[in-house]
Amino acid sequence: MTRKILQPALRILSKECLVTIGKGKDQLSDKGEFLKEVKNKHAILCTLLDKIDATVMDAAGEGLKVISSYSTGVDHIDIKEATKRGIYVTCTGDVLTESTADLAFALIIATPRRIIQGHNFVIQKKWVGGWDPELLLGSDVYGKTLGIIGLGRIGSAVARRARGFDMKIYYHNQHRNILSEKLTGARLVDFDSIMIESDFLTLHCTLNNRTYHLINETNLRQMKQTAFLINTARGHIINELHLIKALQSKWIAGAGLDVFETEPPLKTNLLLKMENVVLLPHIGSATVSTRAKMAEVAANNLLLVLHKRRPIALANPSVAKHDQIN
Ligand code: DGY
Repeated sequence: MTRKILQPALRILSKECLVTIGKGKDQLSDKGEFLKEVKNKHAILCTLLDKIDATVMDAAGEGLKVISSYSTGVDHIDIKEATKRGIYVTCTGDVLTESTADLAFALIIATPRRIIQGHNFVIQKKWVGGWDPELLLGSDVYGKTLGIIGLGRIGSAVARRARGFDMKIYYHNQHRNILSEKLTGARLVDFDSIMIESDFLTLHCTLNNRTYHLINETNLRQMKQTAFLINTARGHIINELHLIKALQSKWIAGAGLDVFETEPPLKTNLLLKMENVVLLPHIGSATVSTRAKMAEVAANNLLLVLHKRRPIALANPSVAKHDQIN
């Protein structure tokens, strides 16, 4: 394990494995040490901070069977390389769906309604004059148009929440999601339309070559000046410098971000100085029960692969083609 995570992970693993736990709280700061530690291991349980590439796989050696990530996104793992070597890559699948959708919706409300500014205003004792007809005026959420990029599990869970706010839901996705369309009335639209029509645009796609900097100057300029951009997926889906320009130039009204291109954002990141943003420290899945469920799934995935059984969530299904796994 590259670092300690919530129970029951260690409880489950230590029944069957000899477990080495990395000390790092942050990114594998000392990669050299990690490369030494990983030698001859059959399994790695990592987090999204750990870049697991060919160097790590080489260092582990031929015995490495499974890389189990304590995350649902696996963009930190070289999947192609793992698959080529017959290494299973597992993830936490859908156990974090509802918690992440809750947080996305929290940003959809907090950003236009200026919740954080209001809180700061009160605790900084700036609220002196009593009720004020013009104090902290924001924008409505109810009845507005919500654009969802990536209508998978989390996107669909956000759409379900949006129905309660009577929102018109547009989505952009590689494939139609008929079930979610039926449940929520979401309508598939092309990329330009979603940028132009959305009052709130929320990102729920995975990060890959196609979605890297998907949101950039060109399409930010297409958005309504009253629109809000919400990101609880991965920071690199947005070109952050272009977003800063868009917020400064008022091409859009605001942004609610739980993820950044660099985490934590550099001290010089201009987003930190802006009023029209709500910024969170990548806490989409951060509830006690979800993080514990993720720990359970990550540990079980790892053991299932070692027992030649199908893991709960496999990120590289093609690796199983030649294996007899049941
Ligand atoms: C994930 O799992 O991919 C989230 O970003 C963190 O829980």
